[in-house]
Amino acid sequence: MKKIKIGLGARSYSVFIGTEILNGLPRLMDGVIEADRVAIVTDSLIGGLYLESLKWGLREAGIESCEIIISAGEEHKDLATIETIFDNLIAQDWDRWSPLIALGGGIVGDITGFAAASFMRGIPYIQVPTTLLAMVDSSVGGKTGVNHPRGKNLIGAFYQPRLVAADVGTLKSLPPVEIVAAMAEVIKYGMIGDAELFDYLETHLEKVLEADKTALMHVIARCCEIKAAIVEEDEREAGIRAILNFGHTIGHAIEQAGEYRTFRHGEAVALGMIAATELSHRLGYCKGDVPERLKTILHRAGLPERVKLSPADILKAVKIDKKRTGTQINFIFVDSIGKAFIKPFELENYLDKLTQFSIFR
Ligand code: GLY
Repeated sequence: MKKIKIGLGARSYSVFIGTEILNGLPRLMDGVIEADRVAIVTDSLIGGLYLESLKWGLREAGIESCEIIISAGEEHKDLATIETIFDNLIAQDWDRWSPLIALGGGIVGDITGFAAASFMRGIPYIQVPTTLLAMVDSSVGGKTGVNHPRGKNLIGAFYQPRLVAADVGTLKSLPPVEIVAAMAEVIKYGMIGDAELFDYLETHLEKVLEADKTALMHVIARCCEIKAAIVEEDEREAGIRAILNFGHTIGHAIEQAGEYRTFRHGEAVALGMIAATELSHRLGYCKGDVPERLKTILHRAGLPERVKLSPADILKAVKIDKKRTGTQINFIFVDSIGKAFIKPFELENYLDKLTQFSIFR
């Protein structure tokens, strides 16, 4: 088992990555959360697969558990679902010390975290991510929230979990296409923070895609270490944390222009990273081998390299990006593999360059 510490003073916590974690959760809670009851928030799909194993371990340790089953899918990541969770907790006379456990992917994690942040002004919660994307990204760092009809994640809070427990055994039930999509975020960590991780992925990609446990644990732990260092420096995204958004400006615009139906998040991020790296090269920030190596590994991972949407649609979506300030956008560039930087960029120049990217050819 691997353990990564997220050092945030009084809000510090550990991320555990390993096997046999679901039924052994009480061991990890020991000394971190004193609780004789917990509420597990999950969806029917994940609950059907892993709830029993989690509950068995809790029962053996004398911890009572109940479950709150929410509807799966992005369309239910809203305030109505938060209210359902609150109704359940209130019906059970929930107190401020008993934790919630988020069992599932990023949507369940974000919703549960926000419910925990706001119920009785904050109760503890534990992240038990069951997707690769949630393990390397959303379960760590305390971003919680739900969508509003006018935009994704518009309502939320920074609220850190007390523990993250990632059981790589759960990834064997993940559809291969989800592993592939999450690989875009994994490759992102190599691009922004660790040339060695990128090299490792170049040599062990097939093992990771086959969900080999040793390769997965190494990769997930490294991604969490990179994220930990960034979050420790800038918990609330006042500056450097935005580097985690590498590939996301154009990626989000692609998702939005396709009305979230054309590409999975990771697939759109892969396209956004290609564009951002090609832009970095055109502006003279990185050498030509950087976009080439990126495109090769994305291709090997099975991620898309072309978008059928028109550049005009994507430009429109970039223009309404909520992270834009006036005509400038804080853009993430790379100067070599493993090194990225944030620089305000004139939107007009950006629009100009967009049509030249290989993703449109
Ligand atoms: N997913 C980006 C972040 O946690 O900041």
